Amino acid sequence: MTASIIDGKAFAANLKEEIARKVRILKELHGLIPGLAVVLVGEDPASQVYVRNKNKSTIAAGMNSFEYLMKDDVSEADLITKVKELNDDPAVHGILVQLPLPKHINEAAVIETIAPEKDVDGFHVINSGLLATGGDGMVPCTPLGCIMMLKDQLGSLSGLDAVVVGRSNIVGKPMAQLLLNESCTVTIAHSRTRNLAEVVGRSDIVVAAVGVPELVKGDWIKEGATVIDVGINRIEKDDGKTKLVGDVEFDSAVLRAGAITPVPGGVGPMTIAVLLKNTVTAACRQAGIDEPT
Ligand code: GUN
Repeated sequence: MTASIIDGKAFAANLKEEIARKVRILKELHGLIPGLAVVLVGEDPASQVYVRNKNKSTIAAGMNSFEYLMKDDVSEADLITKVKELNDDPAVHGILVQLPLPKHINEAAVIETIAPEKDVDGFHVINSGLLATGGDGMVPCTPLGCIMMLKDQLGSLSGLDAVVVGRSNIVGKPMAQLLLNESCTVTIAHSRTRNLAEVVGRSDIVVAAVGVPELVKGDWIKEGATVIDVGINRIEKDDGKTKLVGDVEFDSAVLRAGAITPVPGGVGPMTIAVLLKNTVTAACRQAGIDEPT
C-alpha cells in the first residue's frame, strides 16, 4: 500500500478562506473585527518568522493584528503588566505570548496572567482543565488542527486505537485528550516507553510529537494506519546541506500507512490557520454572539 498524502497546506488554505468569510459576516452584521495580539520577547530568528507569518495571516483574514516586541532583558513584571493591559483592551480578543521565553521569566506565571477567554493558544490551566473535563474552553492550535485533519480523513474516530508519541503540554497531552473526546482508545508514549514499536504497531492512528528526528520507524506502522507527524527537525545530510524531517521515517512509513502528513507541508501550515479560527471563536464568545456557520 502507498499512503495518500494529507495536504496540510491546502487544508489550511481552505480554513483561512472560511475564516475570512466569517470575519466579513461579523463586520457586516455586528461591526465586530476580531483582534489578535502577539507578544514577542527577544530576537530569536525562528520566533520572528512565526510572528511575522501570524501577523500577515491575521491581516489577510481581515482581522486586526497587534504586535508587541519586547527586549530579551524585559522583566517578568513588565511582561505581566503588558499582558494585563491586553486583557483589559476590548479591541483585543486573542492574546498569544510567543514561546519560548528567556530563562529569567517564569513562563507559567505569564501564561496564567492571560485572561482564559483570550488565551487563543489554550495553554492556561483553566483551558487545559476544561479540555480534560469536556468543557468549552480554548483548545491548543496544533492538536486541534491534527484532530480536524484526522476527522476529515477518517470521519468518525470512535473506537480506534490511537497512540500519541510525546507528552508535552503544548501538543502531546491535549492531543491525547482530544482523541479521548472522540472515543479513541488512547496510549500516550514517550522517551521512556518500553517497546514503542509494538505500541505503534497496534495503532490505527499515530500522532508523533516527540521532537526526535525520524524516531518512529516506517516498518512499525500498522498497514493502513493514519499517521500525523507534528515533528519539524532540521538535520544535516551527508553532503553537509540541511533538510527538514519529521518524527516519523517518512519514506518507509508511506509504504505502509493509509494516509500520512508530510514534513514540511503537513501539520505546520494548520497551526496558524487554527490560531485564526480560535481568535474568531474568542471574539464571538466575548461579544456574546453566535459564531457564523
Ligand atoms: N512557539 C512555537 N509554537 C508556538 C505556539 O503555538 N504558541 C506559542 N505561544 N508559542 C509557540
